[in-house]
Amino acid sequence: MKVAHVSDLHFTHFTLDLRSFRWKRWLGMCNWLFFRKKDFYYDPLNELPKLWDRLSVDLILVGGDLTSTALQSEFQAARAFFDRCQQPLLFIPGNHDQYTYDVMQKKTFYRYFQNPASVGGYTLSQHGVELHRIAPSWWCIALDTAPAMPLFSSNGWFAARVEQHLEEIMRFIPVGDRALMLNHFPFFQNDLPRHRLHRGECLRTFLESHPAICLYLHGHTHRHTIADLQKSSLPLILDAGCPVQRDHPTWNLLDLRDDGCTIEVYSWKGAWEMWQQREVLWQRR
Ligand SMILES: [Fe+2]
Ligand SMILES: [Fe+2]
Repeated sequence: MKVAHVSDLHFTHFTLDLRSFRWKRWLGMCNWLFFRKKDFYYDPLNELPKLWDRLSVDLILVGGDLTSTALQSEFQAARAFFDRCQQPLLFIPGNHDQYTYDVMQKKTFYRYFQNPASVGGYTLSQHGVELHRIAPSWWCIALDTAPAMPLFSSNGWFAARVEQHLEEIMRFIPVGDRALMLNHFPFFQNDLPRHRLHRGECLRTFLESHPAICLYLHGHTHRHTIADLQKSSLPLILDAGCPVQRDHPTWNLLDLRDDGCTIEVYSWKGAWEMWQQREVLWQRR
């Protein structure tokens, strides 16, 4: 099964319209104007839907941060982009998609990006978790760990109630099947304090105690990473990077099998090219 993992597309609409004014959004606009505008380059996105068709992608996993300041116009641009894709899609929000408290209360992200019904009736917007069967013996556990945060925070929050729902949802996965987890944030606590996932160490403990989860897919850092930590009782960890980052834009193509997976990393060099390929065999049981 071929799965494209893409994250942090950051569709951006710069506006000083007072009707959408919030202090945090104003800060985000300044961040965009003085830093990110020169760092981001959107042409590579145009080629992706056609490329995913050519590569016979079966499923697209979208790891959040589809917007920059969670404006309606940014959600509309992101929706229009994914409407060009033929494949089934699963979405989770990132911290930029629930940027302000009113956007989170109105559940704006979920008005634009709603997944098919999850096993057990769980929803990201209510429970923070969903479980989707993506192949006969493969499951996707999707997480929402991106509640609105204070002004200068880009943190995530792995809430205790989400952890409890995660424990419940694991019971639906038959013994012998495999799962991947899709979350916006890495769970390691080695990023800047204001960029980390709160209670990330609890998510790490959860992953250590559930060997059915072979893969942990995240974004948020905008830095591509492959880390096979199976020997440390953790999953294979993949950071998709950012496909619009001018410096080294990336996304991942995974070919999932029962015995392992092939990871193809695509990078933009005037066209999308396979930049790196890696084979990993499953060791966790
Ligand atoms: Fe991001
Ligand atoms: Fe993020």
